[in-house]
Amino acid sequence: MAKEFDVVVIGGGPGGYIAAIRAAQLGFNTACIDEWKNKDGKPALGGTCTNVGCIPSKALLQSSENFEHAGKHFADHGIQVSGLGLDLAKMLGRKDAVVKQNNDGIQYLFKKNKVSFFHGRGSFAGKAEGGWQVNVGEESLTARHVIVATGSNPRALPGVPFDEEKVLSNDGALRIPAVPRKLVLIGSGVIGLEMGSVWRRVGAEVTVLEALPTFLGAVDEQIAKEAHKAFTKQGLKIELGVKVGEVKTSGAGVSVSYTSAKGEEQTLQADRVIVSIGRVPNTIGLNAESVGLKVDERGAIVVDDECRTNLPNVWAIGDVVRGPMLAHKAEEEGVAVAERIAGQHGHVNFNTIPWVIYTSPEIAWVGQTEQQLKAAGVKYKAGSFPFMANGRARALGDTTGMVKFLAHAESDEILGVHIVGPMASELISEAVVAMEFRASAEDIARICHAHPSLSEATKEAALAIDKRTLNF
Ligand code: FAD
Ligand code: NAI
Repeated sequence: MAKEFDVVVIGGGPGGYIAAIRAAQLGFNTACIDEWKNKDGKPALGGTCTNVGCIPSKALLQSSENFEHAGKHFADHGIQVSGLGLDLAKMLGRKDAVVKQNNDGIQYLFKKNKVSFFHGRGSFAGKAEGGWQVNVGEESLTARHVIVATGSNPRALPGVPFDEEKVLSNDGALRIPAVPRKLVLIGSGVIGLEMGSVWRRVGAEVTVLEALPTFLGAVDEQIAKEAHKAFTKQGLKIELGVKVGEVKTSGAGVSVSYTSAKGEEQTLQADRVIVSIGRVPNTIGLNAESVGLKVDERGAIVVDDECRTNLPNVWAIGDVVRGPMLAHKAEEEGVAVAERIAGQHGHVNFNTIPWVIYTSPEIAWVGQTEQQLKAAGVKYKAGSFPFMANGRARALGDTTGMVKFLAHAESDEILGVHIVGPMASELISEAVVAMEFRASAEDIARICHAHPSLSEATKEAALAIDKRTLNF
């Protein structure tokens, strides 16, 4: 006998589990299917983000930053540290514990919201009375609505599969058992910079090989330049414009051959290589073809602006569809779809989705970059304020970077805010709120900000639009 549900969500990552909770809140009889297993074979809800993405990477970024502070920066505060050492096993164990807290938290939320959870792979089995049939193991579920939230997988270099020993994806990169002496990262995107920072801070010599000639091409140029300077100063070696050739593993480690931007043939010997060249949408095992679910040439499920697929009452959200591969984007789509199923007007504003790279300095932005505005011929004004001139940043001992505002030349509406510096991940929220309410730079410039706080740099950058900074 099939179990009947109003909504069945396939995938329990941030897109799927949030969609399931919101659907249940709206009164739907909801199930969520997820196949992720922890090392004991038990369910581990939360998908890529919780298990091998956002959460464990931030745990290791924090631990490794603490280690670097103790070794390099505490002395500036008059704190003497002797006998500083690294217990990597403990650091990794703490990260695993943080992951488990999050897995358990989601299980608790499912119970609280009465979401039925099925552990296993969900696949389409065809149409059913009033909806769709989805199978999971021996169980058969019917659903009026199906939300597909099956996420993404790491992209491998052609002919170089991940072995998670020497050739690592984000998964292996988060559990290297001993600090590598030499580590190569292929791809200087978000994972390359975050994982490169973790392993550099605990003692690895890290080289990042990037195919594009520009560093962080999607980031505002001025911000990317500042970040590049900071990372290079920290000892991260970043080679741009390279063409990676053979990647060969041997008993001793791994060798990576590449052609440099100047056309020179080079080979790097390393203990391990992390390949972080982007991710591919995941529809493996979903049996999408059998029901005619449309997938594009990149493997992404084709959806309209409201996450409707080509099949009636089948929706898709998160990394498996177009748009940025970010946990909060997946979550917003999940909420919006549940609300649309309930006949409400769920909405996701793609113009105000923030991006954060959790390096040190952190990089965060929302809206358009200066280069995008130039290319689109939009008339704009720019203003920036350095953390060097911010009292709180000085007290923190972290004055790298700046806040930069871009506003429309005539209306003064904020078009983009770009931050490189301390706590950029938190500071960006003010800009997101401001843009969501279509505020002008002048609105921010006239709002009282607490002193001393890093957020004063945001106010000052807004004041800088009209060349009236007060502290610089
Ligand atoms: P996923 O999180 O991938 O979840 C999909 C789930 O569906 C998985 O549990 C999978 O096992 C399950 N599944 C797949 N197919 C089936 C099936 N047929 N049946 C049952 N279950 C199935 N984003 C941020 O916003 N901030 C960050 O700091 C951040 N850091 C990251 C760090 C790393 C190292 C990585 C790799 C990614 C990071 N991301 C970050 C991106 C973020 O993890 C993804 O955007 C997010 O997880 C996407 O959510 P999702 O629900 O679409 O998919
Ligand atoms: P990415 O898209 O951020 O970066 C990939 C980089 O690899 C690009 O710079 C690209 O030019 C380069 N590249 C591609 N092919 C290459 C090749 N053959 N040789 C050398 N370089 C090559 O992808 P990444 O870092 O794998 O991360 C995947 C996604 O996960 C991100 O785009 C992001 O959506 C998400 N993520 C988000 C985080 C956050 O929000 N803080 C953290 C980590 C990941």
